[in-house]
Amino acid sequence: MNSSPTAAVPFVNDLFLRAFTDERLPCPPVWLMRQAGRYLPEYRATRGKAGSFLELCRSPAFCAEVLLQPLERFDLDAAILFSDILTVPDAMGLGLSFGVGEGPRFAHPLRDEAAVNALTVPDMRSLQYVFDAVAECKRALKSKVPLIGFSGSPFTLACYMIEGGGSSDGFPLTRRMMLQRPELFQHVLDVNVTAVTAYLSEQVRSGADVLMLFDTWGGVLSPRLYREYSLKPMRRIVTSLNKSFPQTPVMLFSRGAAHSFDAMALTGAHGLGVDWQSDLADARKAAGPAVTLQGNFDPLLLTTDAATIRREVGKALVDFDPHYRYVANLGHGITPDADPALVDLLVHTLRAL
Ligand code: CP3
Repeated sequence: MNSSPTAAVPFVNDLFLRAFTDERLPCPPVWLMRQAGRYLPEYRATRGKAGSFLELCRSPAFCAEVLLQPLERFDLDAAILFSDILTVPDAMGLGLSFGVGEGPRFAHPLRDEAAVNALTVPDMRSLQYVFDAVAECKRALKSKVPLIGFSGSPFTLACYMIEGGGSSDGFPLTRRMMLQRPELFQHVLDVNVTAVTAYLSEQVRSGADVLMLFDTWGGVLSPRLYREYSLKPMRRIVTSLNKSFPQTPVMLFSRGAAHSFDAMALTGAHGLGVDWQSDLADARKAAGPAVTLQGNFDPLLLTTDAATIRREVGKALVDFDPHYRYVANLGHGITPDADPALVDLLVHTLRAL
């Protein structure tokens, strides 16, 4: 549990992987959630060429192109696969679309018992375009920095699958099914556990060096229900991945679940994401020394100014050791209105620590 995996392939820059060992590092590695995205004009240009966000995701060549864009601008220590967490439910036949300027929508959400009973683990061949994107991204990186593969957590995927899209009030249809029909809800989670395990395994076989589970909505649950319906399914995935790929670090990012850093550390995950509403020092106390922590600057900092960023970086790390098992990152994804010049400043400020 929480062993220190080491890379089989040498990297030009392996700072990120070294944050999963007990080595003290000269400065923390840094990458940013959604580092390839709409705040970059070159991303918007590539998306225009591709036609839409989903067409971009389905083209391995365009995925590799946008993956490299933030690395060309900023001194980053990791790259993340360009894709989306909703590819998996789309492959289950739920019919994913993104309206222009809108969030995701499913044409066939899981609204009744018949729909849930009909749900099955998709044939991984229908996700071959994602594995091709992993391989293409890996080739394009030329071993410069490690490549992070990812998936949504079973619970977060279930939120979108049942609700049919995003939610501004805590996914009421999802929580109602969970409370009223726990056996139905458990079937959705079980299918997701199997699908996500196969999906992430195939990403490793295609070239991913580190894996991350995005549990964006685990925090809508109480601590008790979080542990049962969000953390337990993630633990099943981590257990099988650790068995199959002992060299590949796995990270969990549950937003709004600071109450359970202790339990997250016991899953066997090598790293934990810390959101911007939590405290790194508290997370360290709860999770213990053997786990890598990643986070947790407020994404809105990148819409402020240079003095604010310098001041906040100084303050955020006073009672926290940034040289040991720590990866600097935001506490959630970069927003479309982020200023690329401030991204550069944040990265440089962290380098100088
Ligand atoms: O971090 C990266 O650079 C890698 C790419 C990445 C995307 N989505 C690209 C994307 C990753 C890791 C994700 C994960 C993802 N997708 C999550 C979990 C992480 C999180 O942010 O909480 C979730 C919940 C989704 C589902 C999703 N995809 C939503 C809710 C949206 C719309 C919200 C928004 O930001 O507009 C997306 C679209 C999306 N995924 C975009 C990108 C770059 C914007 C699409 C566009 O270009 O118009």
